[in-house]
Amino acid sequence: MTVSTFTRIICVCILAYACKSQPNSNNQAPNNSRVGGAFENPEFTYTKIPKVCATVDTSPGWKRNINRLHLTGTIYQSDGVTPAQGVVLYYYQTNEEGHYLHKPDEPRSMPPNENGQTHGYIRGWVVSDLNGRYDIYTIRPGVYPTRDAPAHIHATIIEPTINEYYIDDYVFDDDSLVTPSYVSKQELRCGSGILHLEKKDSVWEGKRNIVLGKNIPNYPSTKH
Ligand SMILES: [Fe+2]
Repeated sequence: MTVSTFTRIICVCILAYACKSQPNSNNQAPNNSRVGGAFENPEFTYTKIPKVCATVDTSPGWKRNINRLHLTGTIYQSDGVTPAQGVVLYYYQTNEEGHYLHKPDEPRSMPPNENGQTHGYIRGWVVSDLNGRYDIYTIRPGVYPTRDAPAHIHATIIEPTINEYYIDDYVFDDDSLVTPSYVSKQELRCGSGILHLEKKDSVWEGKRNIVLGKNIPNYPSTKH
């Protein structure tokens, strides 16, 4: 890692902590001007975020050794061509049974808030490297017991100079709940989140490239 890369990572994470320190409801931009529009509980993004994010992350789910999943891809600037270094990608997901479980013994697990909301323990952060690449090692999430949505992984982007914003969920095209109707309703925020997985050596492999700002409301025009 170069000195500049290291400095950039440190800066991104300091920014993240600066965001965390802001009061939740009073200092945030109104939804009509916020980059990305309305976003429920954006502060959860920063709960237990590490001081330094790595370019490769392994979620606590990986050690369960059930339907292991490797996600990778490149994060690009809004031109869709230039790799974006130093962008943090936060993810969280259910376990294989479709539950967001809080496990107090897991250091990154999120305790429920006063409303009982939690992102559970299968969550993490990666920062894109010099080439925009990221790698996440986790497990395939389960479908909610209600079966009203495909199995999915939520993802949020943290860029250095603007507020965090969510992108399309990671979902998988072999899921019977990824129907034509579901596909047609996707906003394609930062591009499609519908992945085709292939299994290699007992690990599901999926690739998703991300184009910053694509289909993101209020994205700064100076960054296009
Ligand atoms: Fe969810």
